[in-house]
Amino acid sequence: MKNISTDELNEQFKVLTLENALKQLVDIFDGQKIVFSSSLGQEDQVITDAIFKHNLPIQVFTLDTQRLFKETEALITETEQKYQKNIVRYTPNKTAVQDYISTEGLNGFYESIEKRKKCCYIRKIEPLNRALKGAHIWITGIRQEQSEFRKNMSLFEYDAERDLMKFNPLLAWSTEQLWQAIKTNEIPFNPLHQKGYPSIGCEPCTRAIKPGEDERAGRWWWENQDQTKQECGLHIPLKKEKLNG
Ligand code: ADX
Ligand code: SF4
Repeated sequence: MKNISTDELNEQFKVLTLENALKQLVDIFDGQKIVFSSSLGQEDQVITDAIFKHNLPIQVFTLDTQRLFKETEALITETEQKYQKNIVRYTPNKTAVQDYISTEGLNGFYESIEKRKKCCYIRKIEPLNRALKGAHIWITGIRQEQSEFRKNMSLFEYDAERDLMKFNPLLAWSTEQLWQAIKTNEIPFNPLHQKGYPSIGCEPCTRAIKPGEDERAGRWWWENQDQTKQECGLHIPLKKEKLNG
């Protein structure tokens, strides 16, 4: 791997198409573990299409919280069948889930932010940490248009806690661009997107949004609508630092 700083990567990649960016990434980080986390959302399906179609050595995984919409579960299988590739499922620790259910109740997350974060930790964060173990690059489908909070994110961000580089290749994409790519490439997508769900997470914690609402307004909608609190902890603000080669 070449020794390259986050700033250099940001500069170099801002002009590249998605496909070229992914190919370049594989080239620069040759021999390093590159993984892509997919929630099967519209952004993630566009990235998955590029990875699978070009046979790129990038592992695609999903955090199967076991509270997903049936439409999302069906899309995992549909996508695997279309591309004849595997999407690795990370599931929560069974004992931790059982403990949560007996102490807080199955849907205890409606009662407080703390209980919600505890559930997100068990069903998403701990499995994510497992999925990212040994990875050097973590690709996500984050876009700036998704929320005010995400407007401050960069293409490449160094995650000091996990000691890896995060790459958000669709950061500057518009919703129109996304749907154009889905149409042009005949990419399978979640039917819930056409029913008012631009952002889809776990079934009990996601509702449809009203016209004019923020894309992520349907996520944990019962909580205070502070943008930073509308993050489950998967995507915390990161520093822009140099990655040690
Ligand atoms: S979340 O933090 O609120 O859940 P969001 O749904 O906006 O995130 O998705 C942003 C990115 O986080 C996705 O493009 C994907 O990379 C990752 N992500 C979110 N949920 C999952 C999931 N269940 N499995 C894998 N990756 C996910
Ligand atoms: Fe639990 Fe809801 Fe978080 Fe899913 S989004 S892990 S159901 S609190």
